[in-house]
Amino acid sequence: MSETINYRVIGNVEDYTEFPANVKLNNQPYYIVEAPRKDDEEQRYNLISAICPHAGGIVRPHLNELICPLHYWCFDKATGESTNVPGEELDCYPLEIQDGKFMARML
Ligand code: FES
Repeated sequence: MSETINYRVIGNVEDYTEFPANVKLNNQPYYIVEAPRKDDEEQRYNLISAICPHAGGIVRPHLNELICPLHYWCFDKATGESTNVPGEELDCYPLEIQDGKFMARML
């Protein structure tokens, strides 16, 4: 039996010129971020939850990290992996681009 994958349109790629870019899905805050890549690879993007897994603070971009202002857990802004609390991470989903639009698998 094949599984049907549902995608949700996030928006036109050309409308996002700076990353991390704020977006809301299901009334929850996320960021579109540039995913890690090698020099010869095309740029890919991730959708990262802005909700801190510690106690629900909203992380904010600062330099190369997303930082929670409540207790200062820090996360890599490309992957969502914590940089100061081993094993912790923000929810992170790879984005696809179809017909010039960012598409996310239904969350
Ligand atoms: S709620 Fe984010 S570090 Fe505590």
